[in-house]
Amino acid sequence: MSQLEVLHSYDLTHRNRHYSDDEFEMEVDSDDYMTETETESTTSTAVLSQFEGTVATTVTSMDDEASMRTPSPEPEPIMQMDEPLRSTLYKSEFGRNLNNYSDIYKLPADEEELDRLERQYEMLNSLTGHKYVPPMMEVLADDGSERQKAVVDLGSGAGNWIEVSRIIDVARDFPHCLAVAIDLTPMKIMYEMTGHRAGDLSQSEIIPPNLRGEVDDVNLGLSHYNGHFDVVHTRLIAIGVKDYCRLVDEISEVLRPGGLIDLTEVGYEAYDKNHEPIQVSKVHDPANPQWQSPYWAHWLSAVNHAAHNGGGETSASRNLEQWLSNHRAFEDVVHREYWLPIIPGDYDRPRAEAEFLQQYRNTLEFDVMTFLRAGRVMLLKNHYKEDYLSRMEQKILDELREAKEPQYSRIECVYARKTRAPPALELDTPQQ
Ligand SMILES: C[S@@+](CC[C@H](N)C(=O)[O-])C[C@H]1O[C@@H](n2cnc3c(N)ncnc32)[C@H](O)[C@@H]1O
Repeated sequence: MSQLEVLHSYDLTHRNRHYSDDEFEMEVDSDDYMTETETESTTSTAVLSQFEGTVATTVTSMDDEASMRTPSPEPEPIMQMDEPLRSTLYKSEFGRNLNNYSDIYKLPADEEELDRLERQYEMLNSLTGHKYVPPMMEVLADDGSERQKAVVDLGSGAGNWIEVSRIIDVARDFPHCLAVAIDLTPMKIMYEMTGHRAGDLSQSEIIPPNLRGEVDDVNLGLSHYNGHFDVVHTRLIAIGVKDYCRLVDEISEVLRPGGLIDLTEVGYEAYDKNHEPIQVSKVHDPANPQWQSPYWAHWLSAVNHAAHNGGGETSASRNLEQWLSNHRAFEDVVHREYWLPIIPGDYDRPRAEAEFLQQYRNTLEFDVMTFLRAGRVMLLKNHYKEDYLSRMEQKILDELREAKEPQYSRIECVYARKTRAPPALELDTPQQ
Protein backbone atom coordinates (compact mmCIF):
# COMPACT_ATOMS: atom_id res chain seq x y z
CA MET A 1 0.00 0.00 0.00
CA SER A 2 2.90 2.34 0.74
CA GLN A 3 3.98 2.12 -2.88
CA LEU A 4 0.68 3.33 -4.15
CA GLU A 5 0.58 6.70 -5.74
CA VAL A 6 -2.73 8.43 -6.05
CA LEU A 7 -3.07 9.39 -9.66
CA HIS A 8 -6.53 10.57 -10.13
CA SER A 9 -8.76 11.45 -7.32
CA TYR A 10 -11.74 13.60 -7.23
CA ASP A 11 -14.36 13.89 -4.63
CA LEU A 12 -17.65 12.50 -5.79
CA THR A 13 -19.36 15.48 -4.24
CA HIS A 14 -17.53 17.74 -6.69
CA ARG A 15 -19.09 16.05 -9.66
CA ASN A 16 -21.98 17.83 -11.20
CA ARG A 17 -24.21 14.82 -11.08
CA HIS A 18 -24.30 11.11 -11.57
CA TYR A 19 -25.94 9.09 -14.24
CA SER A 20 -28.40 6.35 -13.78
CA ASP A 21 -28.61 3.51 -16.25
CA ASP A 22 -31.99 4.75 -17.47
CA GLU A 23 -30.52 8.03 -18.56
CA PHE A 24 -28.23 6.29 -20.95
CA GLU A 25 -30.87 4.52 -22.91
CA MET A 26 -31.01 5.54 -26.53
CA GLU A 27 -34.10 7.42 -27.55
CA VAL A 28 -34.13 5.72 -30.91
CA ASP A 29 -33.35 2.21 -31.94
CA SER A 30 -29.74 2.36 -32.99
CA ASP A 31 -30.06 -0.78 -35.11
CA ASP A 32 -32.16 1.29 -37.46
CA TYR A 33 -29.07 3.29 -38.32
CA MET A 34 -27.18 0.48 -39.97
CA THR A 35 -26.56 1.10 -43.63
CA GLU A 36 -27.92 -1.49 -45.99
CA THR A 37 -24.42 -2.51 -47.00
CA GLU A 38 -23.27 -3.19 -43.47
CA THR A 39 -23.26 -6.69 -42.15
CA GLU A 40 -24.13 -8.03 -38.78
CA SER A 41 -20.50 -8.35 -37.86
CA THR A 42 -20.31 -4.60 -37.39
CA THR A 43 -22.60 -4.51 -34.39
CA SER A 44 -21.12 -3.82 -31.01
CA THR A 45 -22.38 -7.10 -29.64
CA ALA A 46 -20.48 -8.92 -32.31
CA VAL A 47 -17.42 -6.86 -31.50
CA LEU A 48 -17.51 -7.82 -27.89
CA SER A 49 -18.14 -11.48 -28.49
CA GLN A 50 -15.41 -11.55 -31.09
CA PHE A 51 -12.94 -10.57 -28.44
CA GLU A 52 -14.21 -12.85 -25.74
CA GLY A 53 -11.33 -14.56 -24.06
CA THR A 54 -8.79 -11.90 -24.97
CA VAL A 55 -6.98 -9.86 -22.37
CA ALA A 56 -9.33 -7.21 -21.07
CA THR A 57 -8.13 -3.69 -21.49
CA THR A 58 -10.01 -1.42 -19.21
CA VAL A 59 -8.08 -0.36 -16.17
CA THR A 60 -9.64 2.50 -14.37
CA SER A 61 -9.01 1.50 -10.84
CA MET A 62 -6.33 0.07 -8.64
CA ASP A 63 -8.06 -3.20 -8.07
CA ASP A 64 -6.83 -6.44 -9.49
CA GLU A 65 -9.92 -7.04 -11.53
CA ALA A 66 -8.19 -5.95 -14.72
CA SER A 67 -10.39 -8.33 -16.62
CA MET A 68 -13.53 -6.36 -15.81
CA ARG A 69 -14.65 -3.33 -17.76
CA THR A 70 -15.95 -0.47 -15.66
CA PRO A 71 -19.67 0.15 -15.92
CA SER A 72 -18.84 3.45 -17.58
CA PRO A 73 -19.49 6.25 -17.30
CA GLU A 74 -20.18 5.70 -13.63
CA PRO A 75 -17.29 7.56 -12.07
CA GLU A 76 -14.35 5.82 -10.49
CA PRO A 77 -13.40 8.01 -7.56
CA ILE A 78 -9.77 7.04 -7.16
CA MET A 79 -7.17 5.77 -9.53
CA GLN A 80 -3.96 4.66 -7.97
CA MET A 81 -0.87 3.23 -9.56
CA ASP A 82 1.58 0.84 -8.03
CA GLU A 83 4.43 -0.98 -9.73
CA PRO A 84 2.35 -4.00 -10.76
CA LEU A 85 -0.21 -1.75 -12.38
CA ARG A 86 2.48 0.31 -14.10
CA SER A 87 4.07 -2.79 -15.56
CA THR A 88 0.64 -3.97 -16.59
CA LEU A 89 0.09 -0.74 -18.48
CA TYR A 90 3.52 -0.35 -20.11
CA LYS A 91 6.18 -2.50 -21.71
CA SER A 92 9.67 -1.46 -22.72
CA GLU A 93 10.88 -2.09 -26.28
CA PHE A 94 14.01 -0.74 -27.94
CA GLY A 95 14.48 1.72 -25.12
CA ARG A 96 10.99 3.21 -25.28
CA ASN A 97 7.85 2.59 -23.23
CA LEU A 98 4.89 1.27 -25.19
CA ASN A 99 1.35 0.53 -24.13
CA ASN A 100 1.02 -3.03 -22.98
CA TYR A 101 -2.50 -3.72 -24.18
CA SER A 102 -2.74 -3.22 -27.87
CA ASP A 103 -0.57 -5.20 -30.24
CA ILE A 104 -1.80 -2.93 -32.99
CA TYR A 105 -0.73 0.50 -31.75
CA LYS A 106 3.08 0.44 -31.67
CA LEU A 107 4.10 4.05 -31.18
CA PRO A 108 5.64 4.80 -27.78
CA ALA A 109 3.61 5.96 -24.81
CA ASP A 110 6.29 7.71 -22.83
CA GLU A 111 7.28 11.19 -21.85
CA GLU A 112 9.05 11.95 -25.12
CA GLU A 113 5.97 10.96 -27.11
CA LEU A 114 3.65 12.92 -24.85
CA ASP A 115 5.89 15.92 -25.32
CA ARG A 116 5.68 15.50 -29.08
CA LEU A 117 1.88 15.30 -28.99
CA GLU A 118 1.64 18.28 -26.72
CA ARG A 119 3.70 20.48 -29.02
CA GLN A 120 1.85 19.17 -32.04
CA TYR A 121 -1.45 20.18 -30.50
CA GLU A 122 -1.10 23.95 -31.01
CA MET A 123 0.40 23.47 -34.44
CA LEU A 124 -2.52 21.34 -35.66
CA ASN A 125 -5.06 23.74 -34.21
CA SER A 126 -3.37 26.50 -36.16
CA LEU A 127 -3.28 24.44 -39.36
CA THR A 128 -6.96 23.54 -39.17
CA GLY A 129 -7.88 26.98 -37.91
CA HIS A 130 -10.00 25.64 -35.11
CA LYS A 131 -9.86 24.05 -31.72
CA TYR A 132 -13.49 22.99 -31.91
CA VAL A 133 -15.50 22.37 -35.07
CA PRO A 134 -18.41 24.83 -35.41
CA PRO A 135 -21.35 22.61 -34.33
CA MET A 136 -19.61 21.82 -31.05
CA MET A 137 -20.79 25.04 -29.41
CA GLU A 138 -24.40 24.35 -30.28
CA VAL A 139 -24.27 20.69 -29.34
CA LEU A 140 -22.69 21.35 -25.97
CA ALA A 141 -24.60 24.53 -25.13
CA ASP A 142 -26.03 24.49 -21.65
CA ASP A 143 -29.70 24.29 -22.59
CA GLY A 144 -30.90 23.69 -19.08
CA SER A 145 -31.81 20.09 -19.77
CA GLU A 146 -31.65 17.78 -16.80
CA ARG A 147 -29.32 15.36 -18.45
CA GLN A 148 -25.69 16.41 -18.23
CA LYS A 149 -24.05 16.73 -21.61
CA ALA A 150 -21.02 14.56 -22.20
CA VAL A 151 -18.01 14.49 -24.52
CA VAL A 152 -15.55 11.69 -25.15
CA ASP A 153 -12.14 11.84 -26.79
CA LEU A 154 -11.10 8.41 -28.09
CA GLY A 155 -7.31 8.00 -28.14
CA SER A 156 -6.75 11.21 -26.23
CA GLY A 157 -2.99 10.72 -26.00
CA ALA A 158 -1.44 13.42 -23.89
CA GLY A 159 -4.91 14.45 -22.95
CA ASN A 160 -4.42 17.49 -25.11
CA TRP A 161 -7.86 17.76 -26.59
CA ILE A 162 -9.29 17.16 -23.15
CA GLU A 163 -6.36 19.09 -21.83
CA VAL A 164 -5.92 19.18 -18.12
CA SER A 165 -3.41 21.94 -17.66
CA ARG A 166 -4.77 24.69 -19.90
CA ILE A 167 -7.74 26.94 -19.72
CA ILE A 168 -8.60 26.06 -23.30
CA ASP A 169 -9.66 22.53 -22.74
CA VAL A 170 -13.02 20.91 -23.19
CA ALA A 171 -13.59 20.27 -19.53
CA ARG A 172 -12.94 23.87 -18.66
CA ASP A 173 -14.56 25.45 -21.72
CA PHE A 174 -17.71 23.44 -21.09
CA PRO A 175 -17.80 23.13 -17.30
CA HIS A 176 -21.39 21.91 -17.30
CA CYS A 177 -20.38 18.88 -19.39
CA LEU A 178 -18.76 15.61 -18.46
CA ALA A 179 -15.49 15.16 -20.39
CA VAL A 180 -14.07 11.66 -20.75
CA ALA A 181 -10.62 10.87 -22.17
CA ILE A 182 -10.03 7.29 -23.31
CA ASP A 183 -6.66 5.89 -24.25
CA LEU A 184 -4.56 2.74 -24.08
CA THR A 185 -2.55 4.41 -21.33
CA PRO A 186 -3.56 6.88 -18.65
CA MET A 187 -3.71 10.45 -19.77
CA LYS A 188 -0.90 12.81 -19.08
CA ILE A 189 -1.99 14.14 -15.76
CA MET A 190 -1.95 10.65 -14.34
CA TYR A 191 1.41 10.06 -15.91
CA GLU A 192 2.81 13.19 -14.37
CA MET A 193 1.54 12.19 -11.00
CA THR A 194 3.56 9.00 -11.12
CA GLY A 195 6.47 11.14 -10.00
CA HIS A 196 7.94 12.15 -13.34
CA ARG A 197 6.83 15.76 -13.22
CA ALA A 198 4.40 15.96 -10.38
CA GLY A 199 4.92 19.67 -9.82
CA ASP A 200 3.48 21.52 -6.91
CA LEU A 201 -0.14 21.60 -7.91
CA SER A 202 -2.68 19.78 -5.83
CA GLN A 203 -5.03 17.44 -7.62
CA SER A 204 -8.00 19.72 -7.15
CA GLU A 205 -6.04 22.47 -8.88
CA ILE A 206 -5.11 20.24 -11.79
CA ILE A 207 -8.10 18.06 -12.47
CA PRO A 208 -11.36 19.71 -13.36
CA PRO A 209 -14.16 17.95 -11.49
CA ASN A 210 -15.98 17.20 -14.75
CA LEU A 211 -13.05 15.34 -16.30
CA ARG A 212 -12.44 11.63 -16.23
CA GLY A 213 -9.76 9.46 -17.83
CA GLU A 214 -10.21 5.81 -18.74
CA VAL A 215 -7.80 3.23 -20.04
CA ASP A 216 -9.47 1.23 -22.77
CA ASP A 217 -8.95 -0.17 -26.25
CA VAL A 218 -11.56 1.04 -28.73
CA ASN A 219 -10.99 -2.11 -30.78
CA LEU A 220 -12.85 -4.02 -28.09
CA GLY A 221 -16.09 -2.24 -28.88
CA LEU A 222 -17.92 0.70 -27.38
CA SER A 223 -21.32 -0.78 -26.64
CA HIS A 224 -20.92 -0.08 -22.93
CA TYR A 225 -21.19 3.61 -23.87
CA ASN A 226 -24.24 3.39 -26.10
CA GLY A 227 -26.26 6.58 -25.89
CA HIS A 228 -23.87 8.22 -23.43
CA PHE A 229 -22.30 11.08 -25.36
CA ASP A 230 -23.21 14.28 -27.20
CA VAL A 231 -19.80 14.60 -28.82
CA VAL A 232 -17.32 11.92 -29.87
CA HIS A 233 -13.95 13.22 -30.98
CA THR A 234 -10.96 11.28 -32.25
CA ARG A 235 -7.74 12.50 -33.80
CA LEU A 236 -4.78 10.62 -35.23
CA ILE A 237 -5.58 7.19 -33.84
CA ALA A 238 -6.05 5.24 -37.10
CA ILE A 239 -2.85 3.23 -36.82
CA GLY A 240 -4.20 1.78 -33.57
CA VAL A 241 -7.63 0.98 -34.98
CA LYS A 242 -8.30 -2.40 -36.49
CA ASP A 243 -11.52 -1.61 -38.32
CA TYR A 244 -12.22 2.10 -38.54
CA CYS A 245 -15.50 1.70 -40.44
CA ARG A 246 -16.78 -0.42 -37.59
CA LEU A 247 -15.57 2.21 -35.14
CA VAL A 248 -17.63 4.81 -37.02
CA ASP A 249 -20.67 2.57 -36.72
CA GLU A 250 -20.09 2.09 -33.02
CA ILE A 251 -19.74 5.83 -32.52
CA SER A 252 -23.16 6.21 -34.15
CA GLU A 253 -24.55 4.16 -31.28
CA VAL A 254 -22.51 5.89 -28.61
CA LEU A 255 -23.89 9.28 -29.69
CA ARG A 256 -27.16 10.67 -28.49
CA PRO A 257 -29.57 11.92 -31.18
CA GLY A 258 -28.36 15.27 -32.56
CA GLY A 259 -24.85 14.51 -31.29
CA LEU A 260 -21.62 15.35 -33.08
CA ILE A 261 -18.99 13.01 -34.49
CA ASP A 262 -15.67 14.76 -35.16
CA LEU A 263 -12.85 12.71 -36.73
CA THR A 264 -9.39 13.83 -37.87
CA GLU A 265 -6.83 11.48 -39.41
CA VAL A 266 -3.62 11.80 -41.39
CA GLY A 267 -2.65 9.76 -44.43
CA TYR A 268 0.53 7.70 -44.31
CA GLU A 269 1.90 8.76 -47.68
CA ALA A 270 3.82 11.85 -48.74
CA TYR A 271 2.60 14.37 -51.34
CA ASP A 272 4.50 16.74 -53.59
CA LYS A 273 3.97 20.47 -53.94
CA ASN A 274 1.05 19.90 -56.31
CA HIS A 275 -0.48 17.68 -53.64
CA GLU A 276 0.04 14.61 -55.80
CA PRO A 277 1.20 11.41 -54.07
CA ILE A 278 4.97 10.93 -54.24
CA GLN A 279 5.52 7.54 -55.83
CA VAL A 280 7.76 5.15 -53.88
CA SER A 281 8.43 1.47 -54.29
CA LYS A 282 5.75 -0.69 -52.70
CA VAL A 283 8.33 -3.42 -52.10
CA HIS A 284 9.35 -3.39 -48.47
CA ASP A 285 12.35 -5.56 -47.72
CA PRO A 286 13.83 -4.75 -44.30
CA ALA A 287 16.85 -6.96 -45.08
CA ASN A 288 17.70 -4.96 -48.18
CA PRO A 289 15.87 -1.63 -48.20
CA GLN A 290 16.51 0.71 -51.12
CA TRP A 291 15.24 4.04 -49.88
CA GLN A 292 16.14 7.00 -52.06
CA SER A 293 15.43 10.67 -52.23
CA PRO A 294 12.88 11.86 -51.19
CA TYR A 295 13.73 9.93 -48.05
CA TRP A 296 10.81 11.09 -45.92
CA ALA A 297 8.39 9.62 -48.47
CA HIS A 298 10.18 6.25 -48.27
CA TRP A 299 10.37 6.28 -44.49
CA LEU A 300 6.66 7.09 -44.21
CA SER A 301 5.80 4.36 -46.68
CA ALA A 302 7.75 1.84 -44.57
CA VAL A 303 5.91 2.97 -41.43
CA ASN A 304 2.64 2.68 -43.30
CA HIS A 305 3.49 -0.85 -44.37
CA ALA A 306 4.61 -1.88 -40.86
CA ALA A 307 1.53 -0.37 -39.19
CA HIS A 308 -0.83 -1.86 -41.76
CA ASN A 309 0.75 -5.29 -41.40
CA GLY A 310 0.44 -4.91 -37.64
CA GLY A 311 -3.33 -4.50 -38.00
CA GLY A 312 -3.78 -0.71 -38.05
CA GLU A 313 -6.03 0.97 -40.59
CA THR A 314 -3.53 3.44 -42.01
CA SER A 315 -5.74 4.35 -44.97
CA ALA A 316 -8.65 5.49 -42.80
CA SER A 317 -8.27 9.21 -43.53
CA ARG A 318 -9.14 8.70 -47.20
CA ASN A 319 -12.40 6.94 -46.34
CA LEU A 320 -13.78 8.98 -43.46
CA GLU A 321 -16.02 11.16 -45.59
CA GLN A 322 -17.51 8.21 -47.42
CA TRP A 323 -18.11 6.21 -44.25
CA LEU A 324 -19.99 9.06 -42.63
CA SER A 325 -21.89 10.02 -45.79
CA ASN A 326 -23.01 6.41 -46.36
CA HIS A 327 -24.11 5.88 -42.78
CA ARG A 328 -27.81 6.35 -42.16
CA ALA A 329 -27.21 7.70 -38.67
CA PHE A 330 -25.32 10.76 -39.87
CA GLU A 331 -26.32 13.93 -41.64
CA ASP A 332 -24.76 17.32 -42.39
CA VAL A 333 -21.42 15.71 -43.16
CA VAL A 334 -18.61 18.25 -43.55
CA HIS A 335 -15.21 17.28 -44.96
CA ARG A 336 -12.05 19.41 -44.84
CA GLU A 337 -8.50 18.61 -45.83
CA TYR A 338 -5.31 20.30 -44.70
CA TRP A 339 -1.78 20.07 -46.03
CA LEU A 340 1.03 19.94 -43.50
CA PRO A 341 4.39 20.91 -45.07
CA ILE A 342 6.42 18.26 -43.26
CA ILE A 343 9.46 18.98 -45.44
CA PRO A 344 8.97 22.65 -46.25
CA GLY A 345 10.79 22.98 -49.60
CA ASP A 346 11.72 26.15 -51.37
CA TYR A 347 8.99 27.49 -53.66
CA ASP A 348 6.43 30.19 -53.92
CA ARG A 349 3.93 28.80 -51.47
CA PRO A 350 0.46 30.11 -50.62
CA ARG A 351 0.56 33.00 -48.18
CA ALA A 352 -1.33 31.21 -45.40
CA GLU A 353 1.18 28.36 -45.56
CA ALA A 354 4.12 30.76 -45.50
CA GLU A 355 2.72 32.38 -42.35
CA PHE A 356 2.09 29.00 -40.80
CA LEU A 357 5.67 27.96 -41.48
CA GLN A 358 7.04 31.19 -40.14
CA GLN A 359 5.32 30.51 -36.86
CA TYR A 360 5.66 26.73 -36.60
CA ARG A 361 8.87 25.82 -38.43
CA ASN A 362 10.67 24.88 -35.21
CA THR A 363 7.69 22.97 -33.88
CA LEU A 364 7.44 21.11 -37.17
CA GLU A 365 11.11 20.22 -37.09
CA PHE A 366 10.77 18.98 -33.54
CA ASP A 367 7.70 17.00 -34.55
CA VAL A 368 9.49 15.31 -37.45
CA MET A 369 12.56 14.49 -35.37
CA THR A 370 10.55 13.00 -32.54
CA PHE A 371 8.22 11.17 -34.92
CA LEU A 372 11.25 9.60 -36.58
CA ARG A 373 12.36 8.38 -33.16
CA ALA A 374 8.86 7.12 -32.36
CA GLY A 375 8.44 5.34 -35.70
CA ARG A 376 11.88 3.79 -35.35
CA VAL A 377 10.47 1.39 -32.72
CA MET A 378 7.90 0.16 -35.22
CA LEU A 379 10.52 -0.27 -37.94
CA LEU A 380 12.98 -2.04 -35.62
CA LYS A 381 10.19 -4.41 -34.67
CA ASN A 382 9.82 -5.02 -38.41
CA HIS A 383 13.46 -6.05 -38.64
CA TYR A 384 14.98 -2.93 -40.17
CA LYS A 385 18.59 -2.54 -39.06
CA GLU A 386 19.36 0.18 -36.59
CA ASP A 387 22.34 1.61 -38.48
CA TYR A 388 20.32 1.79 -41.71
CA LEU A 389 17.54 3.65 -39.93
CA SER A 390 20.06 6.04 -38.36
CA ARG A 391 21.48 6.88 -41.78
CA MET A 392 18.03 7.37 -43.27
CA GLU A 393 16.93 9.56 -40.37
CA GLN A 394 19.97 11.74 -40.99
CA LYS A 395 19.04 12.00 -44.68
CA ILE A 396 15.53 13.10 -43.71
CA LEU A 397 16.90 15.72 -41.35
CA ASP A 398 19.08 16.97 -44.22
CA GLU A 399 15.96 17.18 -46.41
CA LEU A 400 14.23 19.06 -43.66
CA ARG A 401 16.99 21.61 -43.22
CA GLU A 402 17.96 22.01 -46.85
CA ALA A 403 14.25 22.40 -47.66
CA LYS A 404 14.55 22.00 -51.43
CA GLU A 405 11.57 19.91 -52.49
CA PRO A 406 8.45 20.05 -50.32
CA GLN A 407 6.79 16.90 -49.00
CA TYR A 408 3.34 17.18 -47.49
CA SER A 409 1.11 15.16 -45.24
CA ARG A 410 -2.60 15.24 -45.92
CA ILE A 411 -4.83 15.62 -42.89
CA GLU A 412 -8.56 15.06 -43.24
CA CYS A 413 -11.21 16.23 -40.84
CA VAL A 414 -14.79 15.04 -41.11
CA TYR A 415 -17.63 15.91 -38.82
CA ALA A 416 -21.36 15.24 -38.88
CA ARG A 417 -24.47 15.23 -36.72
CA LYS A 418 -26.33 12.16 -35.66
CA THR A 419 -29.86 12.32 -36.98
CA ARG A 420 -32.58 12.97 -34.43
CA ALA A 421 -34.71 10.21 -35.91
CA PRO A 422 -33.68 7.42 -38.25
CA PRO A 423 -34.75 7.94 -41.86
CA ALA A 424 -37.82 5.86 -42.61
CA LEU A 425 -37.10 2.55 -44.26
CA GLU A 426 -38.98 2.07 -47.49
CA LEU A 427 -41.14 -0.62 -45.90
CA ASP A 428 -42.23 1.89 -43.26
CA THR A 429 -43.51 4.42 -45.80
CA PRO A 430 -47.28 4.70 -45.44
CA GLN A 431 -49.31 3.54 -48.45
CA GLN A 432 -50.95 6.34 -50.45
C1 LIG B 1 -0.79 9.88 -32.25
S1 LIG B 1 -1.58 9.84 -30.71
C2 LIG B 1 -2.78 11.15 -30.89
C3 LIG B 1 -3.25 11.66 -29.57
C4 LIG B 1 -4.31 12.76 -29.60
N1 LIG B 1 -5.56 12.29 -30.15
C5 LIG B 1 -3.82 13.95 -30.36
O1 LIG B 1 -4.41 14.30 -31.37
O2 LIG B 1 -2.84 14.55 -29.91
C6 LIG B 1 -2.59 8.40 -30.80
C7 LIG B 1 -3.21 8.03 -29.47
O3 LIG B 1 -4.26 7.11 -29.72
C8 LIG B 1 -4.18 6.09 -28.75
N2 LIG B 1 -4.76 4.88 -29.34
C9 LIG B 1 -4.34 4.23 -30.45
N3 LIG B 1 -5.09 3.15 -30.66
C10 LIG B 1 -6.01 3.09 -29.66
C11 LIG B 1 -7.03 2.18 -29.33
N4 LIG B 1 -7.25 1.10 -30.06
N5 LIG B 1 -7.79 2.44 -28.24
C12 LIG B 1 -7.55 3.53 -27.48
N6 LIG B 1 -6.58 4.43 -27.74
C13 LIG B 1 -5.81 4.21 -28.82
C14 LIG B 1 -2.70 5.92 -28.47
O4 LIG B 1 -2.45 5.31 -27.24
C15 LIG B 1 -2.21 7.36 -28.54
O5 LIG B 1 -2.25 7.98 -27.28
